Amino acid sequence: MGKGLIVSETVNEPHGEGAVDGEKRDFIFIATGAVAALGAASVAWPLVAQMGKAADTLAAGSIEIDLSAVEEGGQLKTLWRGKPVFVRHRTAEEIAQAENTDIANCPDPQTDAERLIPGPSGQVNPKYLVMIGVCTHFGCVPVGEAGDFDGWYCPCHGSHYDTSGRIRKGPAPKNMEIPPYEYLSDTVIKVG
Ligand code: FES
Repeated sequence: MGKGLIVSETVNEPHGEGAVDGEKRDFIFIATGAVAALGAASVAWPLVAQMGKAADTLAAGSIEIDLSAVEEGGQLKTLWRGKPVFVRHRTAEEIAQAENTDIANCPDPQTDAERLIPGPSGQVNPKYLVMIGVCTHFGCVPVGEAGDFDGWYCPCHGSHYDTSGRIRKGPAPKNMEIPPYEYLSDTVIKVG
């Protein structure tokens, strides 16, 4: 995890048993995908293994992320409720690719703007893409800046996502999920 990327984390939601079960299920889902598919272990396990005790803390509540700490062309990976979260600071070229895609050709049609949440000004900031970093096929963690569409590539079974995290090719049925989040300022978001 990059230094200084998460400015704070809050655990302000009580844990019901259902929530814990859900987290465990999510974790098992990711882990099972990693074990079941050839090549998956090298993708999913390093992320999970890095979490250690922090996983327990980050698995609950909400987290705050300072977007300004993510350099252009860089990506922050963190964990929220047991799920990997990607924050990508997209380049102008990546934004143009995302915005100029004919979504009629996408398996899960969504404009780039529909995948962004407005900031305090009421406008979306296309620089920052925030999403759950889990392949919608069997739950592996895709690799960034890879694949036929310069976005993310899931090597487990070959799914290609574009620079908006939309599925474009391969067996995954859906775009990578956008988590619930809100802007606390122009550059700080709260996920969860
Ligand atoms: S888990 Fe099958 S392509 Fe990603």
